[in-house]
Amino acid sequence: MEAPVKGVNLGVAPVTYGTGDRPPRGDYGRASSDYTCEQDYAQYTEADHDTYRRLYARQVQQLPGLACDEFIHAVQQLGAPAHIPRFDAISEKLMKATGWQVVGVPGLIPEEAFFALLAERKFPVTDWMRKPEEFDYVVEPDVFHDLFGHVPLLFNPVFADYMQAYGAGGLKASRLDACELLARLYWYTVEFGLIDTPQGLRAYGAGILSSAGELRHSILSKEPRRVAFDLKRLMRSRYRIDTYQATYFVIDSFEQLFKATAPDFTPIYRELRETIAKEGEIEAGVVLPGEREFVV
Ligand code: PHE
Ligand code: FE
Repeated sequence: MEAPVKGVNLGVAPVTYGTGDRPPRGDYGRASSDYTCEQDYAQYTEADHDTYRRLYARQVQQLPGLACDEFIHAVQQLGAPAHIPRFDAISEKLMKATGWQVVGVPGLIPEEAFFALLAERKFPVTDWMRKPEEFDYVVEPDVFHDLFGHVPLLFNPVFADYMQAYGAGGLKASRLDACELLARLYWYTVEFGLIDTPQGLRAYGAGILSSAGELRHSILSKEPRRVAFDLKRLMRSRYRIDTYQATYFVIDSFEQLFKATAPDFTPIYRELRETIAKEGEIEAGVVLPGEREFVV
């Protein structure tokens, strides 16, 4: 086993969403062998804090009626938005609530390192802030997406357990060469999930909740298809990384999500490979005959 030596990951290619040859933006020389690094708080300029403040203000005022209650209640745990929060202060609260911590990372990290951290109830948060000219769209996750999008739901006990189970499941999927299938589950739940509530559909996915435009789009637009969560159907479904999602999957509750993903995926991956070989994958935006669809 490698000792955690600073700089050991320099030059190791981090994961990126989808394919592309854009070099990673973070400084991986700062990271330990588990890819975590200290939050470099001194690096933040007044402009960075100002960007955080403005992003936060724009998102928070849109949440009512669009974000799930669990998210709305927990978002204040991030603290006053006057400055980029300190990861240690959030970890202290999270630890008490659900036993999770946030840890700094220089940017996207390799899948296995990511899974290993989740399995230890550590959520990796990119420490750098997008530039002002990237206010509306940033290609890689930054500190705003990671904190605002992902951290509030880690205060929910069931969701917190789901994230840990996902990490453990990821380590297993790596051994089974099934990461591509499992990544779809992350994409369509953790990043772009919707939940059905007595008040109507609400967003719980971080990619939606940290996006100015997609939050409204995902709940209000007639364009995308909204299909009831079904594990095998979901893992057959391709996704888009360059536009708003054409399909969202809708859960009834976090308990449903947790229970549906609790069984051993080993036979499920096998079955899925056979189905995909015979019937193919499902393109984003396609609804199959007989599927339960939510129409807005
Ligand atoms: N039950 C899954 C498995 O055996 C692990 C998992 C749990 C994956 C939750 C994703 C989410 O692989
Ligand atoms: Fe994310």
